[in-house]
Amino acid sequence: MKGKFPVSKFEKIQTPFYYYDTEVLRGTLSCINKEVAKYNNFCVHYAVKANANPKVLSIIRESGLGVDCVSGGEVAASLKAGFPAGKIVFAGVGKSDCEINLGLEHDIFCFNVESIPELEIINELAAAKGKVANVAFRINPNVGAHTHAKITTGLAENKFGISMEDMDKVIDVALAMNHVKFVGLHFHIGSQILDMGDFVALCNRVNELQEKLYARQIIVEHINVGGGLGIDYEHPNRQSIPDFESYFATYAQHLKLRPRQMVHFELGRSVTGQCGSLISRVLYVKQGTNKQFAILDAGMTDLIRPAMYQAYHKIENISSEEPIEVYDVVGPICESSDVFGKAIDLNKVKRGDFMALRSAGAYGEIMASGYNCRELPKGYLSEELV
Ligand code: LLP
Repeated sequence: MKGKFPVSKFEKIQTPFYYYDTEVLRGTLSCINKEVAKYNNFCVHYAVKANANPKVLSIIRESGLGVDCVSGGEVAASLKAGFPAGKIVFAGVGKSDCEINLGLEHDIFCFNVESIPELEIINELAAAKGKVANVAFRINPNVGAHTHAKITTGLAENKFGISMEDMDKVIDVALAMNHVKFVGLHFHIGSQILDMGDFVALCNRVNELQEKLYARQIIVEHINVGGGLGIDYEHPNRQSIPDFESYFATYAQHLKLRPRQMVHFELGRSVTGQCGSLISRVLYVKQGTNKQFAILDAGMTDLIRPAMYQAYHKIENISSEEPIEVYDVVGPICESSDVFGKAIDLNKVKRGDFMALRSAGAYGEIMASGYNCRELPKGYLSEELV
């Protein structure tokens, strides 16, 4: 089964471009809100790194979610899209002074701090402004996730966070400072996680740490468990909305919370992944020695995930209903890794056909580059194509 695409409306748009199905996006957001409403202490921040297209951000803002930012640029984009500063969390292992100042000026909700040197700078910059910054410590829980090595982040060997052993020391340092207020713990174990057991492992770790803190009579107000819920890349139509019900229920069941604690989530891929497709046209069909290539006008500069993570994106010929043939689908970039898929079944391909690379709404448009002096792809919402 193919996705639903208004192919005739694509005729006048320059390819390649990102197409965002707002019905899927809005459906996803209302599902999140419905599930979160079952619990009175859950709060979701959209991870802007997944997709910062202003039109997409604006729909997410309307749904009432907060944001998780990892750069000053993302903080600025979120403020511009109308997200209240009080719903912004700001993470990142290397925040510059300028970025920290931006957060301080707008009184963002919280800085997720990853080291003592960073804490010291936040304290110093906040002091210079006569402010007190809320900080949460990103703790590296040393929990492995069943996902691609390049997108697992919660292992001791990763650069992220503060080790569990150092947590007490960092808290002592923070408690002695006048311009930071220690309000929470932050975690994130990785991305594209479909095994709820990985999140259970995180909950168990959080519970252990909470016990340790409790022994010191410390109860933090906020537990931020990061993001990571995966999507079904193989079958984008079968489950276009991820299983948020099980995801939130897993945390509700396994996290041992203290009274009045809030749980924060930073979901990226699961929010925008399935609503977006990269739409490209076939430039040439080339006969190779023992295979045929469909050469697209989109390449790894438009969607880098296959080249970078060997990621799978379902490819559909949305212009053809002719019998299936087998193709290697490649881009025009001068790199042999510029391949979207090998031995792919497609309805017979001809020059000019529109191809959809599915499930590309997260880490697609935002990771595009200008390599080979190529133009960046634009993004269009389904509802603007009339
Ligand atoms: N919170 C933190 C601290 C993160 O590092 C990330 C993602 C998220 C939240 C959002 O995770 P999500 O819900 O999207 O899994 N470019 C890669 C993914 C990198 C993810 C980085 N961190 C890809 O294309 O698969």
